Parts: sequence; structure tokens; C-alpha cells
Amino acid sequence: MNCQIPKTTLSTRSSITISTIPGDKSLSHRAVILGSLAEGMSSFSGFLTAEDCLNTLHVFNALGIQSKQEGTSLTLHGKGLSGLRAPINDALLDVGNSGTGIRLITGVLAAQAFDTAITGDASIQKRPMKRIITPLSLMGARITGQTLPGKTDVYPPLQIHGSALNAITYTLPVASAQVKSAILLASLFVQDITTIIEPEATRDHTERMLQGYGADIRREGTAIMCSGQKPLVAPHGCTIQIPADISSAAFFIVLGLITPHEGLHLTHIGINPTRDALLGVLKAMGARIDIHTIAGEDFEPHATISVYPSEMTNIDLDPAVIPFLIDEIPILAVAAMFAKGRLRVTGAKELRVKESDRIAGIARIAAAVGITITEIEDGFSITGRPSGESFTLDSHGDHRIAMSGIVLAYAAEMSATVIGCACIHTSFPNFFEILNTWGLPYLKVSQPCG
Ligand code: S3P
Repeated sequence: MNCQIPKTTLSTRSSITISTIPGDKSLSHRAVILGSLAEGMSSFSGFLTAEDCLNTLHVFNALGIQSKQEGTSLTLHGKGLSGLRAPINDALLDVGNSGTGIRLITGVLAAQAFDTAITGDASIQKRPMKRIITPLSLMGARITGQTLPGKTDVYPPLQIHGSALNAITYTLPVASAQVKSAILLASLFVQDITTIIEPEATRDHTERMLQGYGADIRREGTAIMCSGQKPLVAPHGCTIQIPADISSAAFFIVLGLITPHEGLHLTHIGINPTRDALLGVLKAMGARIDIHTIAGEDFEPHATISVYPSEMTNIDLDPAVIPFLIDEIPILAVAAMFAKGRLRVTGAKELRVKESDRIAGIARIAAAVGITITEIEDGFSITGRPSGESFTLDSHGDHRIAMSGIVLAYAAEMSATVIGCACIHTSFPNFFEILNTWGLPYLKVSQPCG
């Protein structure tokens, strides 16, 4: 599916409140996983009904979990830590496009009393899995995968021979919440205390939700300790509210900073401090962003984010904040194209192994609108304003590159063809609806394409 955006001169739109940014993707995956492993029924509101999280739900359905999903309400009948069963006919489990899905679920499958195999789409089959296989193997897991010509890592499909695991102490070699979470989930099945040392902090949704389910987990400095074999208990009689995804809101936050309007207010946006670094960075660049109506601090804080058109100046991004805005870097690069000076990003090598090579994706976006970019192995420097009348961008099947290209087309008042937009459904099913609600012109979506 390709998207065509007509050249549009944007007049100042009136103030608008948008309350339909969809639920947080990271939290929705974890909701399915912990709700399945808990004893009792879990109810969630704000579940993200995008392909990635629905695939995680289907995996747990295949493992014997009953669920009821109506719109963004999700109920799971958890079966406890020993309640999963082998998929019927040993069916291959399929996470689609989701790296979070495959890495977290593998942590659970490694500890089961049965064997499984898990895979995903073409992009997943190119994503490195040694980062989880290494620590899980130290715990006693038996996982094998594929090799790829000219590459040294291990890739899906993964064959997982369920095993009894043991506790480890492990220092994360990459700042990855997915790796941390895979180990934490495996540790739930283990006697004794598993310790994960996290030299650089990463998003802490797994720890917060495990605490909510009564797991024996605590943090001491950079160490996270979890004692296993303790039943997870679904919070009784309450619905757990999943806030809206700041990574999805980011596209509208940036659009709100670089197009004319009288105020954009995005409600219930998750502002977990391990996820909200984009807001601080944009503010440091001069963005007018107001964070108010804060609630939900006992679980996952959320707020209304008000955004106003702003004159911004680029900065050198502090590498220490990269894990807290890793998914927002493509749209930050678009914001940089409308700011003075140079944005310099370093220490972001992880972008090379996301749904696509996102540093290369950002370079394609810049090149499409005549902007100078210097690409380095772990980042880039970008200077200059978009020029030209139109551009074509290939997303390489990466949702965040596709949405960044669309935002750029509107803000630069250029016509554009973005090749490969079906992937937007992996994280943001109502992206186009929200664009239209905000008075952005009709998008011609041609089918079927890449
Ligand atoms: C995620 C963690 C991040 C992020 C991904 C979601 C998660 O990956 O890029 O979109 O839900 O744990 P890494 O932690 O591997 O960087």
C-alpha cells in the first residue's frame, strides 16, 4: 500500500483536542503476557489493537489463553505460571513484525515444559536474536535459530526446547528493554534471584507491571532483582488503564510544532520518565510544549500534552538520553529539518537493527528533500531546510519511517508518494483518521502495493 499526499498550503487551523492517540505498544504487549501468566482475570482498557499487539495476543491464544477483546478493552483469563500448553499441532507461532513480541515471548517459552517454534515476517527474520539467546542460554535455555549469509548473529525462526531454568546475574551489553524483559520474564519461572545489571537505564514498563502483579522484583541502583516461582496475581476488580503511546503521539507533537495552528492538545499520553525524553529534547530546542493534567502516577503516568508552533534551534543530542527516545529519532530528524543549525545524534547504533536500518531510513528521508546529512555508524548530523516540490520515499516496510515521511510532506508543503504504508498498521491503526480529523487533506491510498 502506497500513500499519496497532495501538495497543500496549510492555513492556520483552529485549536483542536485529540483524544484518540492509540494505546501504548510496549504496555499492550506486556499486558497480554503478564495477564496470561497471572492467576485470575485481568482487564485492560486502552489496549493497542494494532497488528503487533494482536499478534502477541494470538500467540497466547495459541498457547491456551482465553481472551475477549472488544475494541480497546481486553480481558484475559490468566492460567498462572504453569498454565500454558503447547500450540495445537505444534503450530509455528508468528509475531508478524514485532521485535518486542518475539524477544519477550521467547523469554517465556524458554521455561515451558514443551517445545515451540516462533517466527515473524521478513523484517523479523533479519533481526538479531543472539542478544536474548545468550542470556537465556546462560539460564539453561535451549534455543536455536538461523544464520544469514555474511552475518554473524542468529535470526528467527527460533526453535525453543522448553527447559528448567536457573537464576543468573547478567550485565546487559546493549541498552535494550527487550533483552531485559526477556530475562525478567524467564526469571519468573526460576527458583532463586535473577539479577540484571543495566549500565544504561531503559524503559521500565516490565518492572512496573510485574510489581502491579505482585512479583518479587526490586531495583538497587543499576541492578534489578527478581525472585521467581512466585505466583502473579491479577489486580482484583480493577481495570488497568494503558495510556496512549508517546511514540505515536510524537508524530503529531512534531507536526504541531512545525505547522500553523492555534493549539494542539493530545490527551492521556504516557509520560513514563523512561519514555518521555523527546519532550525534553524538543523543549531544549525551543519547542512550546506544555505538559499538564497529569494522572496515573501509581502505575504509568499520563498527561495532556499541548503543542504550539515553535521556532526551534538544533542541538547535539546527549547519547545518555538515546534509550529514552530511541523510537522517536526518525521524527526528531524531521523536526530538525525545520529548526536552525545542526542536529547531531551519536550513540544510537541500535537504530541500525530496528524494523529497518533507521539511520539509513533517515538518510533517505533527508535526501528526498535535498537536505545534507552525514551518516555515521551510530548516528547522523543533519542541517538545512527541505527544498523542492515533491518527493518519493520508500519506507522499507518501517512504520516509523513511513509516518515520518508523511509528516514531512505536510510540513514542507510538498506532494509526496510514500511507498510501503501498510506497515503503519503495526503500531498506529488510526493514523490517517487523525490526520483527517485535524483538517489535513485527503490522502489517496492506492492498493495493493508494497
Ligand atoms: C521496546 C523497547 C525498545 C523499542 C521497541 C519497544 C519494548 O527496543 O525500540 O520499539 O517494548 O521493550 P530495545 O529495548 O531493544 O531498544
